[in-house]
This record gives sequence, structure tokens and C-alpha cells, in this order.
Amino acid sequence: MTSATTKAHIPEAPFLAPPLTLRGVAFDPPLFCAPMAEISHSPFRRLVADFGGYGALFTEMLSAKMLLKEDMPRSPWTKRRAQEGRVIYQLLVVDTEKLPEILDRLAVLAPDGLDLNSSCPAPTVRAMGGGADLFEDADRLREILRVLRKHFSGPLTVKIRLGRETEGWRERLGERLRLLRDEGVDGLTLHPRFAGDKLKRAPRHELYAELVTEARLPIIANGDILDPHYVRSRAADFAPAAGLMLGRIAAARPWVFAQWCNPELVMDHAAVWNRLCDYVEEDFAAERALGRVKIFTAYFARNFMFGHTLFAAVQSAPTIAAARERATRFFATAPKLTAHISLGGI
Ligand SMILES: Cc1cc2nc3c(=O)[nH]c(=O)nc-3n(C[C@H](O)[C@H](O)[C@H](O)COP(=O)(O)O)c2cc1C
Repeated sequence: MTSATTKAHIPEAPFLAPPLTLRGVAFDPPLFCAPMAEISHSPFRRLVADFGGYGALFTEMLSAKMLLKEDMPRSPWTKRRAQEGRVIYQLLVVDTEKLPEILDRLAVLAPDGLDLNSSCPAPTVRAMGGGADLFEDADRLREILRVLRKHFSGPLTVKIRLGRETEGWRERLGERLRLLRDEGVDGLTLHPRFAGDKLKRAPRHELYAELVTEARLPIIANGDILDPHYVRSRAADFAPAAGLMLGRIAAARPWVFAQWCNPELVMDHAAVWNRLCDYVEEDFAAERALGRVKIFTAYFARNFMFGHTLFAAVQSAPTIAAARERATRFFATAPKLTAHISLGGI
């Protein structure tokens, strides 16, 4: 599926060292694949793992209450394979009801870390009191963190945004950072946009320096990071960060972590896309599999100059077999690759 030239590592690729070590667990290199709902399932993680180059993969946010019913070692949301390396399970928690029991069940998967979602701005998540809504509620956040810390001895991280863009946001953010530290959180992922920004407006990477000083916790930087060039071009902004998290670019290019230190990596795109289909069909029930392939293809299609052709063909496919046939026709045209991938609108 891949071929690489002899030019292996570029020494100037940022964030290949040192590892990020939390509670004695080393994440090496300190590069992380983001939690992405409907994308970061076990088939996708398996595909990213085929290329390697990251320190840990996050699961998509997992509703804590749903975990009470999940068949942990078999479910495509929770299962992990040895080749994935380190996996951090991200939880969507809204209260402490049955939380110890949920954590006991999760323990069979031996998570390399737990992450509390305090960033998701999706209206459905906020309406139930999760994600960005939990971030606003200091008392509930504290209560949940106490239970998580008491029942999980490994690395505990929290993924946050900047909060709500209303008067006093900066003070509130400072208070939250102190709360997280006081409750025994080991590290943060910061996506430096406000909750209301969704994925629009530029992320405020220039804030890491002051927020690391204030939090006195390692911060993993996130938001619009595409490649080493992007990070080098803002080297001073990123210097205080302890690691980087990549999301949508990994959905478009599951090999992005491997390419981080080996820009010469050559990819067989058709083989990668088909492999994702194989893995999805293996782990998901048929009625769910096609949807997962369609979602992945929305990102993967961004690799091509006329990727919307692939996107449209797969979106309207009635079955995975039909999607494969259509994709095969697209790949047979030797589609031209885009030099710079755009993630706008997805
Ligand atoms: C389709 C999609 C699903 C996402 N789901 C989650 C999620 O489950 N949990 C979470 O904390 N963030 C989620 N995010 C946000 C990403 O983790 C990340 O913070 C965001 O995409 C910015 O990083 P990027 O520019 O590298 O994509 C999601 C983003 C996308 C595009």
C-alpha cells in the first residue's frame, strides 16, 4: 500500500520528541489522533495504525451511559486491537450516576488514558448537559472529575475549547484551568476556539504560552494542524505545547502521522480507501457499515482535485458493493491529487 524512498526522517519535523509522559505512561511521539464522532471507530483506528507514527489514538466520544450496555471487547466503538498501540477513551459524561460501574466495565479494555469531553459544541450534546455545556458548569465538572480521578489511576485528560465568548471568558477559562489541575487532571487538549465558533474562525494558537503557565499542566494543541510546515510557520505559538492533536486531516489522510517524519511517503489511495471498507465491513453490522464508509469518504475525497466526483458517487450508493464499484471507476481514471488539502466545510 505504501512505498517510501530512503530519505526517512526529517530532523526538523516538530513534535517527534520528547514523548509526553503522563502518570508514567509515555506517548511517543507526542502526536495524537483526535476523537471524531462517527469517524474514530475501531476500523478507522486500525487503518491509522497500519501506518503508525502517532503516540496515541483517541476513540470518538463514548456516551458513558451507553457503555453500560456495550459489549466492550466486540463493539466497533470500544474494541481495540494490539496493533493500535496506545488508545485513549474519550467519555461523554453528564453526571456521576453509575460512573464507578461504567469505569469498572471499561477497565477490561485497559485504556491507556481517559479523556473527558468538555469541548463538544454540538447542540444535541449540549442539550443533554455534555461537552461545552459541562465546561460551563464548574460544580458538575468538579463532581465528575472527582469520581473519574478516584476510580481511574491512569492518565486523565480533558478536552476543552475556550468556553463561551461572553464577557469574562478569560477569567472563567483561568478558573476552569485551576479547577482541572486541582482535581488531578494530568493534561489538557486545547482546541482554542470558542464553543460558538464550531470549526470557523482561526484557532487562537497564540494563547498556549499564557495558558500553559496558568494551568501548570501539559497542553496538547489542536485545531487546523495539517502538517509540520503549518507548525513550523507558527513555531513560537506552538513551542509551549507538549503535543499536537490532528483531526480532520487524519480522516482525509490516515497516513498523516507516518508522513510527519517521512514526507516522501507515497500512497496508493485506492488501496487505502478499499482497506477502510474491508475493516468497516469486518467490524460493523451491515446496516451501519455503509454510513461509516460515506462519512469517511467525505474527508478522503479531499485528496483529489475532482474529489467531489468520488464523494457524490459514494454518497448515493445503495450498498457498499455499489460504493466499491463506483470508487473503482473513479480510481481507474488516475485522479489528480491536490497539493494542499482544504478542510473547509467538513
Ligand atoms: C466529524 C467530527 C467529529 C468530531 N467528534 C468529536 C468528538 O467526538 N469528541 C471531541 O472532543 N471532538 C470531536 N471533534 C473535534 C475534533 O476532535 C477536533 O477538535 C477538531 O476537528 C479540530 O481539529 P482539526 O482541525 O485537526 O480537525 C470532531 C470533529 C469532527 C470534524
